[in-house]
Amino acid sequence: MEILLRPDAAVGSRTAAGVVARLIREKPACVLGLATGRTPMSLYHELIRMHREEGLDFSQVTTFNLDEYVGLAPDHPASYHSFMWEYLFKHVNIKPLQVNIPNGLAKNIPEHCREYEDKIRACGGIDIQLLGIGGDGHIGFNEPCSSLSSRTRIKTLTRRTIQDNSTFFDSAEQVPLHVLTMGIGTIMDSRSCVLLAFGTRKAEIVAKMVEGPISAMVPASALQWHEKTTVLIDEEASGKLTRKDYYQWVYQNKPAWQTAEIES
Ligand code: F6R
Repeated sequence: MEILLRPDAAVGSRTAAGVVARLIREKPACVLGLATGRTPMSLYHELIRMHREEGLDFSQVTTFNLDEYVGLAPDHPASYHSFMWEYLFKHVNIKPLQVNIPNGLAKNIPEHCREYEDKIRACGGIDIQLLGIGGDGHIGFNEPCSSLSSRTRIKTLTRRTIQDNSTFFDSAEQVPLHVLTMGIGTIMDSRSCVLLAFGTRKAEIVAKMVEGPISAMVPASALQWHEKTTVLIDEEASGKLTRKDYYQWVYQNKPAWQTAEIES
C-alpha cells in the first residue's frame, strides 16, 4: 500500500483525477472502476474540467461501477445510475454503451452478477479501481464479514451504512436494505486501486485499514494484500495513523520518476 498524504480533500481529489487522466491519455481504451458517494464528487468535477479545458477524451473508455441499490430503477434520483450520469457521464464524451453499472432491477440476481463479472473479464479487467471507504470499513458495499474472495453479489447493508447514506434519500426508511456490489475478490483483481478518504470521520477506519490486521471485519484491510493500491488521504483522515511520519518520509524521498507519475 502506498499512503499519500495531501493537505486537504481538494488537493487529494486533484491528485486522484491526475492519476486517472494520465491512464486515459496513455491508454485511451482503458477500463475504469468507479465509485459513488460524497468522496469522489470533486474528483469527477476535476475530470469534467479536464475534459472541457484540456480535451481529456473519454470516447474509448469503458467503466464499471462498484455497486447499485436493489429495487431502484436506473432513473430513480438516488440510484447510482442517476448519480453517475449527474456527476460525471453527462458532462463528458463517454459512450453510454461503454458504461456498466449493476442493474438494481435485475430479475435473476445471481445470473446478472455472474454476467457482470464475465463482462469485466471480457473487457480485459479493470485498470484503475476508484474506491471510497465506509465508516465501518466497507469498500463497494462489502460490509464487515464479507468474504475476502467474494465476487459480485447481493449484500445486506448494515444499519450504520443505511444511516450514513440516508442523506441521499428523504429518510433512512427509504434506503434499500439490499445492494448489488462487486466483491472484494473482484476489486482485488483490478490492476491498481486508488482509495480516497477525507475528513476526521474517516480517520479511525483509515488507521484500521492501513495499520490494522487484514480482517473480514474491516473489508478495506484486504487492500494490504493488493499489489498496487494507493491510499489518498487528507490531513484530517490521517489523524489516527501511527506511522504518518514514515509515509511522509517515503514520499519526500521518492525517485523523481515515481513522483512524476503522481504529480503530473
Ligand atoms: C459507493 C461505494 C461506497 C462508498 C462509501 C463511502 O459506490 O462503493 O463504498 O465509497 O460508502 O461513501 P462516502 O464517500 O459518501 O463517504
